Amino acid sequence: MLPAGANALCHRLHSPRRFQMASCIATPAALSTQLPIRAATAVRHLSDDIAYVLFPEQQIHARVQQLGRQLAHDYADRAPLVLGVLTGAFQVCGDLVRSMDPCPRGTTVNFVRASSYGSGTESSGKVAIKMDMDSKLIKGRHVVLVEDIVDTGMTLTRLKAHLTENCEAASVAIVALLDKRERRKVELEADYVGFQCPNEFVVGYGLDFDEEYRTLPYIGVLKPECYAHKL
Ligand code: XMP
Ligand code: MG
Repeated sequence: MLPAGANALCHRLHSPRRFQMASCIATPAALSTQLPIRAATAVRHLSDDIAYVLFPEQQIHARVQQLGRQLAHDYADRAPLVLGVLTGAFQVCGDLVRSMDPCPRGTTVNFVRASSYGSGTESSGKVAIKMDMDSKLIKGRHVVLVEDIVDTGMTLTRLKAHLTENCEAASVAIVALLDKRERRKVELEADYVGFQCPNEFVVGYGLDFDEEYRTLPYIGVLKPECYAHKL
């Protein structure tokens, strides 16, 4: 994962739609030679593995903008520390902080790594935490934890406890782009939720299966045959 400052650039570079547009404009000749090669080798694209799109790019963009403005308002005088949960929240975190307008003075951005999933679609129940910053710097800060999805709730419960008890944050609020409430195993409410999510395994816009699909600009349901052989 790139350091916090490189995240926005990383998002742009990984957007397949923008990449295609750029190559069309820059090298039309190259494009015309690419098309027959693609047809001949029948390249499978990531989007071929998506059963249906749940949240299109525009809808995500509009909702994240609303959340960013709401955060900017709510934290106007609290110099928040926005803490993205890696790896899944790298997209939403980048878009969210860009939407914090007017951005409160003293806002900083960093990341924490929390892993509760192996390579399957079910939580292992264990949460490993790795901070990307000196945890002493969290003491007294108003932390806004940004997560891609709340599922059982175990990851965020553990993270919130760590930030409050071990790091002595002044407050910890949770932003979850998606909330899969049906699957909750512990009592946990996010303070800001993008969308309620049905009980399906979803990928895209940062969410992965086996580290793939994070680059899709929308969120969709993965075709079961794409993960069944790996479980
Ligand atoms: P818990 O169960 O602790 O898990 O709330 C939260 C983490 O689990 C991952 N997760 C998913 N990842 N599609 C994904 O790509 C999903 O449908 C899904 N459900 C849970 C995710 O990493 C999240 O941070
Ligand atoms: Mg996550």
